[in-house]
Amino acid sequence: MDSEKKDEKIYPQGYEPAITPDTSNDDTRNQLLDFILKSGPSEVVDTDLFAVMAKRRSTRKFSDKPVETTKIDKIIAAADTAPTAGNYQGFEIFYVKSPEKKKLLVEACNNQPYVDAPVVLVFCKNPSRVKFDFPEYILTKFAIQDATLAAGYSQLASQALGLSSIWIGMFDEQKVMDVIGTDLIPSSVLCIGYPEQTKFPKPRRNLKDLVHVVW
Ligand SMILES: Cc1cc2nc3c(=O)[nH]c(=O)nc-3n(C[C@H](O)[C@H](O)[C@H](O)COP(=O)(O)O)c2cc1C
Repeated sequence: MDSEKKDEKIYPQGYEPAITPDTSNDDTRNQLLDFILKSGPSEVVDTDLFAVMAKRRSTRKFSDKPVETTKIDKIIAAADTAPTAGNYQGFEIFYVKSPEKKKLLVEACNNQPYVDAPVVLVFCKNPSRVKFDFPEYILTKFAIQDATLAAGYSQLASQALGLSSIWIGMFDEQKVMDVIGTDLIPSSVLCIGYPEQTKFPKPRRNLKDLVHVVW
């Protein structure tokens, strides 16, 4: 593995959580992350993980009610709690705030109108962060798993906060990259907001048909 490939690229930042600790201490592990996860006042509607899972349902119609910044911070922080390969965090989150760019994302996402949602997070793979000395295809595989899992955590956190979401996998990668201005390949676009109406969960196949026991 040549060292050039392993160099980590720095992408533009600028995310500022609504509430931060009074004093920042680099020696305190995960200080900002823990602060956001544990702090109010965002209303956590459901703290029962299994109830959250049972109730989660994709939403494609969002109400105009804005999502509180403290909730968005928690959703983003939740992504950061997900496990990642080697803890290298081989993914990035692009938090799309610009209404114009959201409209461009609709087009990039096969004209799915609900992509113009109150909160839009694009999860991208960043294999250059994964510092294992493994072939590139393994690093890419890890990065897509990292990005996918993180988005799943954000999706569950959204539900726990009384919000709903739609996972977008149908998009033109290059168009999404052009809109958000990155050379990183997106893995999913997560659109979040208050649902216009609450729906019952969709049916699943019988759990017994899903599981294949291997002795
Ligand atoms: C990998 C993946 C890709 C998806 N892509 C889209 C998409 O592009 N557009 C869309 O409307 N829903 C998309 N969905 C949402 C699924 O349609 C939805 O999760 C599924 O119908 C189950 O419904 P539920 O989430 O309410 O349980 C995607 C979900 C996943 C996991």
